[in-house]
Amino acid sequence: MDSMLIYNIGHLITPQTSGQKGLAGAAMQKIQVLADAAVLVENGIITRIGDSSTMKSLVFVAESLTEHFEYTSSTQTKPPIVQMLDAQGMVALPGFVDSHTHTVFGGHRANEFAMRSAGKTYQEIAASGGGILSTMNATRAASAEELYTIASKRLHDMLRHGTTTVEIKSGYGLNTASELKMLEVVAELQRSHPMTIIPTFLGAHAFPPEFQGDVHNRNRYIDIIINEMLPTVKERGLAQFCDIFCEQNYFSLEQTERILNAALELGFKLKLHADQLSSSGASELGVRLGAVSVDHLECTTESGVQAIASSTTIATALPGASLFLNHPYPPVRRLIDAGATVALATDFNPGSSMTYSMPMMMTLACTQMQITPEEALTAATLNGATALELAYERGSLEVGKQADMLLCDIPDWRFCAYHFGTNPISMIIKNGKVVSTV
Ligand code: NIG
Ligand code: FE
Repeated sequence: MDSMLIYNIGHLITPQTSGQKGLAGAAMQKIQVLADAAVLVENGIITRIGDSSTMKSLVFVAESLTEHFEYTSSTQTKPPIVQMLDAQGMVALPGFVDSHTHTVFGGHRANEFAMRSAGKTYQEIAASGGGILSTMNATRAASAEELYTIASKRLHDMLRHGTTTVEIKSGYGLNTASELKMLEVVAELQRSHPMTIIPTFLGAHAFPPEFQGDVHNRNRYIDIIINEMLPTVKERGLAQFCDIFCEQNYFSLEQTERILNAALELGFKLKLHADQLSSSGASELGVRLGAVSVDHLECTTESGVQAIASSTTIATALPGASLFLNHPYPPVRRLIDAGATVALATDFNPGSSMTYSMPMMMTLACTQMQITPEEALTAATLNGATALELAYERGSLEVGKQADMLLCDIPDWRFCAYHFGTNPISMIIKNGKVVSTV
């Protein structure tokens, strides 16, 4: 047995699950704060949480008994010694769960960033050939090895910022071979990287140049998604979620429903980029189809808020995209007050949100969306895990869950949102192992 006692934790902060679900509405505020805590981890799983000095002395007694026992009975195999990790009074938080990213892509779009700073909008840049299609060109041109190398570096940086679980979407290939190439890269990252990585198929991110133009031509791309991409992705086990960009000039409500129904029939779980640039009813559609999450929601109306709040679909806010594009923020205060389960994610991508920082998302949630630090923490951990259907094993520091834990050298846990633009993480523990020290 591989055991570790993390003791001398100044404050242990965690949301607490009711069963295996995320926390909705007012419950998002109720986080647990334990002073002078210790966590016992056995084979990567949290088996006990308690008072630091009590747990330290229990281990001490257990170890001296072990020695005595060994002395008297040499035929027994030696029980393991518990590895001790002194947290030196630091704050312990659950690892962040970034449930919406586009981490695998070729090239960058610093030029578009500069164009926006000079007054151009995201939509104008996309209409003149930039945007998603510019990254599609760079991603198609890159080899799987090149994409793997750069994405692996990005994941390393993400982990340093405290993200221990991440979702990664395809969606910059936009033909069967390149979409599969992206998902194969994600599969390779899953095998080689300590983070928990959840892949999502996003073939319906934009219409590629080959299928632009009239409805007839566009429908041919949708046929390829339905008849070729989805079945192959399923057959090769390359993604468990199917996502879509439901938006004017991208996929209409009707096209979205057609693709998502085909995905459902094949057994995919659903996510939607909903109501980002305009209000289309995508949130309501997502709820009706039983989507696990509807993401973005910058333009979601009161009817969308009510639909989400009366369902189990998670509302995922991506405030990095609002900041970066100077767009409105989603109505997250309304959503929580109406009883919705809200998650926070970075939307890391080269066009609309070039950041790895979940602490920064918490800052934006608190300063731009009237969310409390407690709600922001729940959204960035447990509710993100719920948006990836992982709440049964991740997203909070509780007995029975995997030990994905951050140790932060800060005087008060709220510094992780309050002291913005900094990285509060000193040590990262993933599945009970120290994986990176910043
Ligand atoms: O989530 N909105 C669609 N997709 C991304 C942006 C992708 C891009 O600009 O490359 C988003 O914001
Ligand atoms: Fe996105």
